[in-house]
Amino acid sequence: MKILKKNRYQPEKHAAVVIPVFRGKPLAEIWQEFPELEFLDRQDKIKGEAGEARVCHSLQQQRLFLLVGAGRPGLLPDARKLACKTMSLLRENRIGKALVYFIPPGPYSQDYLVNLVDYLHLNNYRFDRYKTKKSKPVDRIHLVFKNRTPLPVALLKARETILRQVTLARDLVNEIPAKITPDSLVQLFRDSASKNHLQLTVYRKKELEELGLNGLLAVGGSSCCPPALLTLSHVPKKFSRTVALVGKGITFDAGGLNLKPGNSMAEMKSDMAGAAAVLGVLNVVAELDLPVRVIGFAALAENLPGRRAYKPGDIITYANRKTVEIVNTDAEGRLVLADALIMAARQKPGAIIELSTLTGAIITALGDAMAGLMCRNKKLRAGLMQAAENCGELLWELPQPVEYRENITSKIADLKNADYNGASSIKAGLFLHEFAGKIPFAHLDIAGTAFLSKPMFCLAAEGASGFGVRLLVEYLKTVAGKDLDNLA
Ligand code: BES
Ligand code: MN
Ligand code: ZN
Repeated sequence: MKILKKNRYQPEKHAAVVIPVFRGKPLAEIWQEFPELEFLDRQDKIKGEAGEARVCHSLQQQRLFLLVGAGRPGLLPDARKLACKTMSLLRENRIGKALVYFIPPGPYSQDYLVNLVDYLHLNNYRFDRYKTKKSKPVDRIHLVFKNRTPLPVALLKARETILRQVTLARDLVNEIPAKITPDSLVQLFRDSASKNHLQLTVYRKKELEELGLNGLLAVGGSSCCPPALLTLSHVPKKFSRTVALVGKGITFDAGGLNLKPGNSMAEMKSDMAGAAAVLGVLNVVAELDLPVRVIGFAALAENLPGRRAYKPGDIITYANRKTVEIVNTDAEGRLVLADALIMAARQKPGAIIELSTLTGAIITALGDAMAGLMCRNKKLRAGLMQAAENCGELLWELPQPVEYRENITSKIADLKNADYNGASSIKAGLFLHEFAGKIPFAHLDIAGTAFLSKPMFCLAAEGASGFGVRLLVEYLKTVAGKDLDNLA
């Protein structure tokens, strides 16, 4: 979808007109511009609450008008709701072109406009690759501001670049597990590397053995498609800071020998959402050529039961000599991530940010609307929280208390991979912290936010959300401007 800024109100033929209505603003200004809509006033009032809407036809102009509640001017969550409601109305009415006409107040901040544009794009997405009857996407939106509002073309272009990668991540997570395997993801990373001049290294079975990346080998052992660790790096000409990103890439999580019961396996194609987000972010930073070195890691494996499956009771020895007792083969994410974190820490980046659909418990705690953030470094935490608020991919902080560390100590090894006495998201975070060394480390548990079981007003349609791509790009943009070395 193209979003363009126009300087005048001049709707094309067959284009609908969307008029944001702000809370507490008199409708009089709207009637001044569109006298034919005045009848609405007498019928029922629209107060301008975000999410409110009225659809009406102007017979005179043969045109569809959508009055959409815009909440408070300048408020970012309200900009998101305005965009979501607008898109769902346009799609419901099968409208391909629309003009959004902003009558005062204004001008709007850059952040406001970014959110507006992002959420228009986000809510135009549907995964209908497997539907014979496809729904009609919106293909053009013109934004017109009655008050002068700067919205540079370059900004719209950058958002398009970012949203294209959000779409890629969503497509990969929504795609069926028959098509997404470590092999097919390796190929996709290769395609991105050659297209965007990113550096790629691929460790398959032989290299994993040489490096002692035994978590991946154990978890991926029973699949016919062997595991892989990928690093995809953006190395700009000039940079002073390096950030490592790590994504969980379990292409299907059946639970292994601790097979997932009942319905809980149904959405496990989404267990590679972290890796998909890392791929998306690397494509964006390359395309925008951000002046930060970014090293992306993707830990890829399929967690299945089978003759060669790893077993409860097994002990894995890691490349940093730490040993882990397997008590549950369904707590596989932390096992493959441990390998990736060891490799990431060896690069001595300024920070490691890891994303994973790690625990069902994070869904119990926070639902679909926010991801869990576990991080002991104040600056890194604050930077991520700020990025989250700016872009709407929300985070909620969970603690990492030392008091719980003993709960993941094994009787016969250094650590065990699960513990059943509550706080399982926090304990998973503590486990991961053990492998990041002294590097400032943030763990994002995206099990709830990456894949929505029902459409969520304001984030996206149901299914994959692409969570993490916009968040990390936003974070990396601020890092590009500041001195990350202050983090430590
Ligand atoms: N991939 C799952 C977590 C998950 C659950 C993601 C629901 C998305 C939706 C993860 O590998 C897992 O199975 N975690 C277990 C850990 C437990 C065995 C300690 C869980 O959360 O039940
Ligand atoms: Mn699992
Ligand atoms: Zn998993």
